[in-house]
Amino acid sequence: MIPVTKPYLPNPDLYKKYIDDIWERNWLTNNGPLVNELELKLKEYLDLDHLLFVSNGTIALQLAIKALGLTGEIITTPFSYVATTSSIVWEGCTPVFVDILSEKLTIDPKKIEAAITSDTTAILATHVYGIPCEVEAIQKIANKHGLKVIYDGAHAFGIRVKGKSIFEYGDISTCSFHATKIFHSIEGGAVITKNPELLRKMALLRNFGHDGFDKYTGVGINAKNSEFHAAMGLCVLPEFNIILQKRKSQYEQYKTLLIHLKVDYPSLGTVESYNFSYFPIIFQSSEVLLSSMKALEENGIGSRRYFYPGLNQLDYTSGACPISDDICLRVLCLPLYHKLGEEEQRMIARILLRVQNNPNT
Ligand SMILES: Cc1ncc(COP(=O)(O)O)c(C=O)c1O
Repeated sequence: MIPVTKPYLPNPDLYKKYIDDIWERNWLTNNGPLVNELELKLKEYLDLDHLLFVSNGTIALQLAIKALGLTGEIITTPFSYVATTSSIVWEGCTPVFVDILSEKLTIDPKKIEAAITSDTTAILATHVYGIPCEVEAIQKIANKHGLKVIYDGAHAFGIRVKGKSIFEYGDISTCSFHATKIFHSIEGGAVITKNPELLRKMALLRNFGHDGFDKYTGVGINAKNSEFHAAMGLCVLPEFNIILQKRKSQYEQYKTLLIHLKVDYPSLGTVESYNFSYFPIIFQSSEVLLSSMKALEENGIGSRRYFYPGLNQLDYTSGACPISDDICLRVLCLPLYHKLGEEEQRMIARILLRVQNNPNT
């Protein structure tokens, strides 16, 4: 079986060493030394002033919305994982969908202004597949209308734009360190901001609002992460550049093998350093997608309709986004993970080309 993704596992002896130290200290969670060390190393690696390690990328989005005090309508993308929208609804706000750019698949800034009403408080956009949003155009609109900007950077670890981390854009950026992400801590995530006041707010919100043992500032939640999760992050981070190189060569290998496959690829825009976190292909029709997916499955190969359905199509959402609706019907992510072999990639390419050349078999 070739799954669509597999978590990267570091050297087990290194992880065991961290676990032995946790046993020795008997300090398992609550802002322990490994959480602090991971935060420091992540800031150093990503070249950031502030970052908080939290329990996952979903709660990171919820903390961001809460810390900014958002209410009313939040303009967002229909083309993302469900957590982008559900976090908005969970925080009592209304998602208002703006369609995506047909080439980059990120929110179309030219369509944002028409969706702004007197109830709009923010824009929440996703750097989908690690493709940077049109950050400058979005900021211009936000400044003009007094809106906050949150970026869901769940896929964007390590991405740089115009000489700085993609996480520096917007009021708050979030990331996911889920086991299937290119950098992971089993479960985990982060909130990133340049604003020390927002940072302090999110640090309080992360820990029940505790401001010392006996004082609470506002209503908080438990968004902390544990020493065990931080230990995994500390094992994976030093290997990140090796993971990245491997992904890059697998990505290029797919591009070569699939040169005759009639599919489109999302454009990466102006990204300086891409992270190759997914390999999405856009078929010419949903019929070809479904027969390709079936043929892969019959050969023990996983693939994922990432993203389907569009987030404007959920039971609890609405909004017309024809470009996203169309892409959602035609996009498929192929297997991509550290241990995926060249021969396996060749087999995947052969199956896809066979379906293209013999659509009725
Ligand atoms: C775009 C996007 N946002 C948010 C999340 C949520 O992250 P987590 O699984 O860490 O809660 C994911 C997870 O896959 C995601 O892909």
